Amino acid sequence: MARLKVAVLFGGRSNEHDISRISAVHVIESIPKDKYDVVTVGITKKGHWFRFNGDTGLIASGEWEKHPDNVPCILSPDPIHKGFIVFERDGEAVSLKVDCVFPVLHGRNGEDGTVQGLLELAGMPYVGCDLISSAMCMDKDTTHTILEANGISTAKWVRILRSELDDKLSEKCDIMERELTYPMFVKPCNCGSSVGISKVTDRDELEAGIKQAFVYDKKVIVEEGIAGREMECAVMGNLEPFASDIGEILPANDFYDYDAKYNDAGSMTVIPAKISDADREAIRTVAVKAYKALGCGGLSRVDFFLKEDGTVILNEINTMPGHTGISMYPMLMENIGISCEEQEDRLIKLALDRAGVDYE
Ligand SMILES: Nc1ncnc2c1ncn2[C@@H]1O[C@H](COP(=O)(O)OP(=O)(O)O)[C@@H](O)[C@H]1O
Ligand SMILES: [Mg+2]
Repeated sequence: MARLKVAVLFGGRSNEHDISRISAVHVIESIPKDKYDVVTVGITKKGHWFRFNGDTGLIASGEWEKHPDNVPCILSPDPIHKGFIVFERDGEAVSLKVDCVFPVLHGRNGEDGTVQGLLELAGMPYVGCDLISSAMCMDKDTTHTILEANGISTAKWVRILRSELDDKLSEKCDIMERELTYPMFVKPCNCGSSVGISKVTDRDELEAGIKQAFVYDKKVIVEEGIAGREMECAVMGNLEPFASDIGEILPANDFYDYDAKYNDAGSMTVIPAKISDADREAIRTVAVKAYKALGCGGLSRVDFFLKEDGTVILNEINTMPGHTGISMYPMLMENIGISCEEQEDRLIKLALDRAGVDYE
């Protein structure tokens, strides 16, 4: 195989910007250097794109942004450029051709189909789910709707639009109280990292939670709380995806909120989860079924609740799951014998396969 050039995108205009930087370091370090040349393009929280040629060690902390060699660098939507246009210091615009883009971006403006759309326009092979499946998995209301249509169980839910907030809040809360039981979870539809999510136990908290969630989104869902253990499954592949073993999350807090995810060392992951073989197979089967139903490609982490009676409820699908050294996705794949180097190699090849690129 000829050496290929892979551009890793990191950061992004998202409330998961910081996590993306940490994931990106892991991805950059894991991409096998005997096969690929890596170029790095950082996107600031404001959305400015820069080619970053500095030390990978400066990425996680955010110091990369101050590097004197950074120059503006944008992905051209015109496939003729096959990559980026770099605006060098002397003002000259130089083309930076790449063979594949690895968008290590979490949340909005990166994991939601936006960047994927730009990459489609550019005719650029890219790692991970395509535009439509990224967008569907990002929107919790849409994910639930597609899953329900495919016979996959999710928590019961009711949606509310911002346009209904002023004159229909009370009516909507009546519907929620009729159709769902407390505790309920209020969620902005398109967020991530538990931002804007609250667990509510009465009407006052419900109304307050909804108003709070609308700070982050124009559509909010309220779900019935599920009493169950949290299980996660890593899936990889295009048309014939496979599922890893199952990992369990033991959140340090009442639920897996932002703090429990990133700030509390008390949150633990157990790989493989201590569950029966029947439960394990049930989750793996639903994970692959959901992955296909939502048209995922490359990779996704499928998250579940497992109830005591063995009922499997799908919570959400993350199309660009966390990729830090202690993240569930890479650890689940390592656990079945696929090293981090091999994971990135396979993901890049899946991107090239989907784009019909012959890389042998
Ligand atoms: N319906 C539910 N029942 C019980 N716990 C829930 C429910 N929905 C969410 N949670 C808790 O909140 C966390 C974050 O919710 P999730 O929908 O996964 O949002 P995010 O996309 O931000 O990760 C979950 O990991 C879980 O701990
Ligand atoms: Mg989640």
